[in-house]
Parts: sequence; structure tokens; C-alpha cells
Amino acid sequence: MMAVIGAGLPVTKPIGNLVVDIGGGTTDVAVISMYGIFYSRSLRTAGNHMDEAIMNYVKRKYNLLIGERMAEQIKIEIGSAYALERPMTMENKGRSLIEGVPKAISVDDGEIREALNECVAATVSAIRVALERTPPELSADISDHGLVLVGGGALLKNLDKRIRDETGLPVCIADDPLCSAVLGTAKLLDDFRLLRRVAVD
Ligand SMILES: Nc1ncnc2c1ncn2[C@@H]1O[C@H](COP(=O)(O)OP(=O)(O)OP(=O)(O)O)[C@@H](O)[C@H]1O
Ligand SMILES: [Mg+2]
Repeated sequence: MMAVIGAGLPVTKPIGNLVVDIGGGTTDVAVISMYGIFYSRSLRTAGNHMDEAIMNYVKRKYNLLIGERMAEQIKIEIGSAYALERPMTMENKGRSLIEGVPKAISVDDGEIREALNECVAATVSAIRVALERTPPELSADISDHGLVLVGGGALLKNLDKRIRDETGLPVCIADDPLCSAVLGTAKLLDDFRLLRRVAVD
């Protein structure tokens, strides 16, 4: 709810808002309208899981052990959910599992996309389930206005494009997806009436 308020969505209006918050530990999909949450589901496939998927991929394919930080850097720099306009490659530094010594290899965006595919597919499928479970009057709004991505994972290249393609919905990324929850918290603390309306027992 805080991320949604931070992203500037009309939570106080009788309009259905579908929000997908892709964080480090969880991806939360929610349908919000009139201060209330009509549907919500949390998945474990979020940023950390993507980093692990990259580590496992590099280990399996190249017998190279890379750290979590390296995996996250690869995700941020060349990770994508859909083919990129211009191919990208990146050097991975790690430890060879065969020789036991430091080694560097190069990976391309296609390989990283393959590594991330399962996580991305799980997100798309959670959005589909949310749409199926949403009351029809709210899903009509959602098909008009689309869904909003918040959280750092929203910045994965072409994730918006892939979700748009696979759900047929318009997709937009919040202005500052990494800060939506913080901005929303600040707004709530500033607006006691709004805080009271959205507070859950
Ligand atoms: N450009 C980027 N592309 C892909 N992922 C990114 C990008 N920038 C940040 N991330 C990822 O976003 C995640 C952090 O997002 P965020 O700050 O929203 O999470 P969080 O709120 O701390 O986690 P949670 O909501 O699960 O508690 C990290 O996994 C980070 O690697
Ligand atoms: Mg978060």
C-alpha cells in the first residue's frame, strides 16, 4: 500500500489499481481500490532469487563460482526479460571450480535472459492469477489503465514489455521504483486522515 501511494496511484478513488512490487525478497501483486486491498499475493521469486539464478547458471554452464554481488551487477547491467535492441556482454569474475583459481569469462544478455526466465515467467503468471481473481468491475479499470510496476526489480530491462506482451495490459513503471515505498510512507505520515483510512487492523 505504501509503495502504491508513493507511486501516486489513485488509491482513494473507486478505481481498480493493479500493482506489482518486485523487491529483493518478495514480489507482491495486489489489487487496490478505495483504500482497500482486494487481492494480494506474495511470491519468493524477486531480486535475490534472480541473482541466485544467475549464479547457478554460470556455475552450471562455465564451472565458475561467482559471488552474489557479481550476480546482482550482471542482472542490473545486462539482465533483461525480453530481447534487447542491442546485444550486451559482460565479464564475470569468479573462481574456477575445476582449477580452483580466479578466472574471468564473458556472458551475453541472451544467456542471462535464459537464466532469469523462470523468475520472470513466475511473475507474469502471478499477474494472470491476480486478474482472474479480481472482481469484474475492478478488472475493467485495470484493462483500461493497466498495471504499475514498483520496487527495484521493475528496472529489469524490458520487463514492462514482456508483461505487456504476455498479459495484453498497458504497463508502466513508477517514476522512482526503488523509492516508492519510502515516498509513500512519508506521504502517509504527513496525512493522518489518509493513514487512518489505509491502516489495517
Ligand atoms: N536496474 C535494475 N535491474 C534489475 N534489478 C534491479 C535494478 N536495480 C535494483 N534492482 C534489484 O531490486 C531489488 C531491490 O529492490 P527494493 O529496494 O524495491 O527491494 P526491498 O524493498 O528492499 O525488498 P522487499 O520488498 O522484498 O523487502 C534488488 O534485488 C536489486 O538487485
Ligand atoms: Mg519493498
